[in-house]
Formats: sequence, structure tokens, C-alpha cells
Amino acid sequence: MHKILLKGGQPLQGSIPIGGAKNAVLPILAAGLLTDEPVTLDNVPDLADVHTMKALLETHGMTVERTGDRHHRLTLSTKAISNHTADYELVRKMRASVLVLGPLLAREGIAKVSLPGGCAIGQRPVDLHLKGLEEMGAEIVLERGYIHAEARDGLRGGQVALAMPSVGATENILMAATLAKGETVITNAAREPEIVDLAACLTSMGALIEGAGSATIRVQGVPTLHGAKHRVVADRIELGTYAIAAAITGGELKLIGGRSALINSLIEKLVEAGVMVTNDGEDLVIACKGGRPIGVDAMTQPYPGFPTDLQAQFMSLMCIADGAAMITESIFENRFMHVSELGRMGAKITVHGGSALVRGVERLHGAQVMATDLRASVSLILAGLAAEGETEIRRVYHLDRGYEKVDEKLRGCGAVIERVKE
Ligand code: UD1
Repeated sequence: MHKILLKGGQPLQGSIPIGGAKNAVLPILAAGLLTDEPVTLDNVPDLADVHTMKALLETHGMTVERTGDRHHRLTLSTKAISNHTADYELVRKMRASVLVLGPLLAREGIAKVSLPGGCAIGQRPVDLHLKGLEEMGAEIVLERGYIHAEARDGLRGGQVALAMPSVGATENILMAATLAKGETVITNAAREPEIVDLAACLTSMGALIEGAGSATIRVQGVPTLHGAKHRVVADRIELGTYAIAAAITGGELKLIGGRSALINSLIEKLVEAGVMVTNDGEDLVIACKGGRPIGVDAMTQPYPGFPTDLQAQFMSLMCIADGAAMITESIFENRFMHVSELGRMGAKITVHGGSALVRGVERLHGAQVMATDLRASVSLILAGLAAEGETEIRRVYHLDRGYEKVDEKLRGCGAVIERVKE
């Protein structure tokens, strides 16, 4: 196991390349199960979650190869599905594993997938995924921790009205619908850029999809999909995290390939807080005018609202704000584990239900802290970058699930940060 040591107080200066989106590539990898032809993906981030998904897909008969000399290119090929069961041992490592359910069922008419169980940030059920697939003719039984799903004569189009715009449910149903007989209409669909990217990849595989990115998605099923090439969209959460890194250290960063349209909701908050944000062609430049940011409230919401995956990072920034900020989490019921760790670094935060009142302090101070989940761990790095003295962060394996070379990227911009064996 590794831990991260860092010394705060250094304004970051320089450029950081933004990688492909973890949350886009995971469903797109699962979509590779829908065809027996090769699918080539570019801009695939090198992350622990991608390795976990690869290991799971290999158990279903997919081969996943790094092709060409390009580090971030993968070619997937699933000539035949060799196994219909997604085992608990792999699914429990990563909730997104449940995304193999729709593709397996659509291509084979049968799937057995372990229930993912709870996770640190809340219960996170999959009832909406299952209801949607039932609407398309699947018979589903839950037994001994597994989802048993069958559609012996194939899935048929259906009317799927989601009770809430779940990202994963929209993706599972969208993938399943591409090979169903007839038209599927998903209403109250999630509108995240990762859904748009999945739909773009499926479309280049021959799927007929309209409306991805809006609340109503229409899919005309086709008998088969074919091979394709696709470039994964930029990771808006990585982009937002480094934007906050520039702001919290009072530095200036150019975020290469970071399309600002992906994080408008964060940019609005940063500008309100007094941070300068400019577009430089395809890149985004974040700079500070000096002084502390102003306290600004934020509430997480489905896209295009403020992303829950940037809530912890924004809270770190508000910890050193001039004034107070009310941060409300409306997506997950238990996503404030970083609060007590930030408290160890001198932050003044009071939680009432789903809201955290952050009273800005002039300075945080370094401390020994523990990462509890992916986004919480990076919020501690951000706080450490702004803090006086040394911070030690344990359990950084959470970080490797979603950030490629975070320590290297930050070091390249002047941060004093190293990863050492515990
Ligand atoms: C995805 C992202 C995750 C992000 C989240 C919200 C991936 C791999 N992960 O997770 O990083 O934080 O979107 O933007 O893309 N819900 C149900 N029943 C269901 C499904 C969801 O009640 O069947 C609830 C969840 O408990 C949660 C809310 O809906 O409260 C949103 O969850 P969802 O959008 O499904 O998140 P994920 O797809 O799991």
C-alpha cells in the first residue's frame, strides 16, 4: 500500500493534460460485448477501474489488447460470449460492473450478475436498471445475491420511464435497447456527457439512437452491431479537480483538452468565488487574482447541475474561503466522509443532514488523514496543497481508481508531493 506525502503552500503553475473520462470508458468497454467485431478505443485512461472492468470482460470472452504504440489505445474483441455470469469477486470491487447486464442480456438473452451491494457513499440500489429491462421483456429474479435475467426470445422495445435520472440505469437500458426488437423510449433519462459519449460510440457501431443528452432517448433496435473506432470524451471530473487545484493554491493552470462546456456548473461557482477562468482554444486556463476565494453555496444535482463527483473537491476550496458556504449533497445520502478528515486539517464544517456549512478559515494546516473514497481522497490532496506544513494521506488506492498519475501531474506544476510505500 502507498501513502501520499505533500507539503502545501506552493501556487501551482503550468499545464496539465486531461485524460479520457473514467465514467465514459467503463460503459463503453461493456458495450464492446454487443458485437463480435473489434472495437478500437482511443484516449482510454490508465486507471484501476479500467483494469477491473477489463478483468471482468475477459471472463465473458472478450479480449482486450493495447494496440499500436499508443499507450491509451485499446482494441476489444468478443467473437463469442463464453460465460454469462459476472462473479461477485469482481463485481464487489466496482459498482460499474453491473453495466455488463444490459449487453449480455441483449446479445445472449441470458445473464447472471452479482448484486453490487452498498458502498461507502450510500446504498446505491439497482432497482431502476432492473425495472427498465423488465419493461423490455426480461424476466428477472434475485437469488442468493445474484440478478438472474432472461429474455429467451430476445428483448423487445419498451417505454422506460425512470423514476430518477440514474446514469447507470440509463446506460444499461440504452445498451440493451440497441439490439431489442422495435423502439425503446427512455424518459427522464440521465443527460450526462458520458451518456452522450456512450451513444456516440454505439452509433458508430451501427445503433440507431436519437436524443442522447436530453431527457428523452429513442432507440430503434437493430439485429446486430458492428465494429467501430471511438475516441473517449475528456474527463470532466479530472478537469474540475485540477481547476480547483489552481484556485486553492492561488496559482495558474492551463488544462489541456479541457473543454469548458463540460463543467459549466463548476465554472459559474469559481467565477462567483473570484477565480479567473478563460478559454484558450481547446484548453481551459484557471488563474487567481490573489487573496482568498469568496464563500459560495453549491448544491449537487444531476447534469447539467453541479456534479456530486466534484462536491468534496469544492468543499476543500470553500474551507479557505473568505466567508461561509453551504454545500448540499442531493444525489447520495452519505457523501460527507471527507468532512471529518478536513476537520483534522483545521477546517470548520458543520453537517446538518444533507448540507454542510463551511466557515472559511485563513489557513489549513497539514495533518495525517485517511482517504475514504475516490473523490474524498483527492479533496484531501487539494486541501494539503493549500495547507501550511506537511500532509500525509493514507489509503490512496482509492485515488488510483480514477486519477491517472495525479502525483506526477501535480509535481510537474510545482507541487511538493510524493508517493511512498507505507
Ligand atoms: C454514476 C457515476 C458516479 C456518479 C453518479 C452520479 C459511473 C461509473 N459512476 O454512478 O461517479 O457519482 O453517476 O452522478 O458513471 N439509484 C436508485 N436506483 C437505481 C440506480 C440509482 O435509487 O437503480 C439512485 C442512487 O442510489 C443515487 C442516484 O440514483 O442516489 C444516482 O445514482 P446513479 O446516477 O445511478 O449513479 P451511478 O450510475 O451509480
